[in-house]
Amino acid sequence: MNYSDQQVAKVAEKLKAELASAEDKRSILRSNDLKALYAQISSMPEDQRAKYGEEVNGLRAELEALVNSAQDEQEKPAPIDLTAPFDVNQSVTNGPKFLAAQQGSKHPIMVELDKILDIYARMGFSAIESRQIDDDYHMFESLNFPKGHPARDDYDTFVTTEGLIAPAHTSTMQNRILKANKDSLDQGKPIAYVVPGRCFRNEDVDARHDHTFYQIEGVYVDKNINTGNLVAVLQTFFTDYYGKKMDVKIQPFYFPFTEPSFEFAISCPFCKDGETCHVCSSSRWIELLGCGMIHPNVLKEAGIDPSVYTGFAWGGGIERLVMIKYGIEDIRYFESGKLEFLRQF
Ligand code: DAH
Repeated sequence: MNYSDQQVAKVAEKLKAELASAEDKRSILRSNDLKALYAQISSMPEDQRAKYGEEVNGLRAELEALVNSAQDEQEKPAPIDLTAPFDVNQSVTNGPKFLAAQQGSKHPIMVELDKILDIYARMGFSAIESRQIDDDYHMFESLNFPKGHPARDDYDTFVTTEGLIAPAHTSTMQNRILKANKDSLDQGKPIAYVVPGRCFRNEDVDARHDHTFYQIEGVYVDKNINTGNLVAVLQTFFTDYYGKKMDVKIQPFYFPFTEPSFEFAISCPFCKDGETCHVCSSSRWIELLGCGMIHPNVLKEAGIDPSVYTGFAWGGGIERLVMIKYGIEDIRYFESGKLEFLRQF
């Protein structure tokens, strides 16, 4: 090793040490020590010049590679700790922007459900949630649909290999509520419940039908209860929920678990005098739910004497109510997980 080789080796050692602690890594490549090595080339004896030049170039290339990898390391985003509380992750400043945590919010169905339950609570109704997996007895049998009854076809849903059912309506809870509260009737206390819950159907999905949706059911039983009471409760509810006086009407329908059975409609809140309305197809009415006087067989099945007590029940989709309230035109938004939609509530 001659004198100039030793010089290159010394500068290499010095600059590598400096690189480790340098704030601006790239400044190492502009150091005076490196410049001095290059400056010596012209004063070298000619037979040593090529070899020396190669060595200095080699050192520069080596330093450049070290600077690049040190810089990559420096620029890596700080790791995100998924288990850390929200505020800790949000203060990460040198990570990509899209990783910044954002505050979540309640699903619009749940926001509206709180309002709905609040209205019914003020009218004296307790609330109980329906099950998301149930059995044939509660889905059909206890509701006066014996095996083979043709009306079962209207509630085509998903069934497990064990025969359990993803319920197609919240009426599955009627028998449980009636049985659990029948003794209080004799103490002069009416049965008054609402039942929100998730429902499922084997549905041809479109803007008005989804395979997964929410319903709310109501059950009221006492002495001397009639259809007038049913209409009054629902009219009071809708007037409160939509914030304006609603005209309502009932029209005959069929359900195995009510007799008589009705379809319940409200006057269309979007209609303007003389103009065409795309919400109700200018029929001026919107059908919102099914209802009726609880069938004597349903009361009997729960151990309630239908010659002493009568009652009414109703049930319908929650999405529909919310769609009408906010002018949402497609039911599929609710289960889509689309943030552009959800953030509007
Ligand atoms: N369960 C019915 C459905 O989903 C709706 C319904 C009708 C519920 C009449 C009731 C009722 O409680 O009395 O189509």
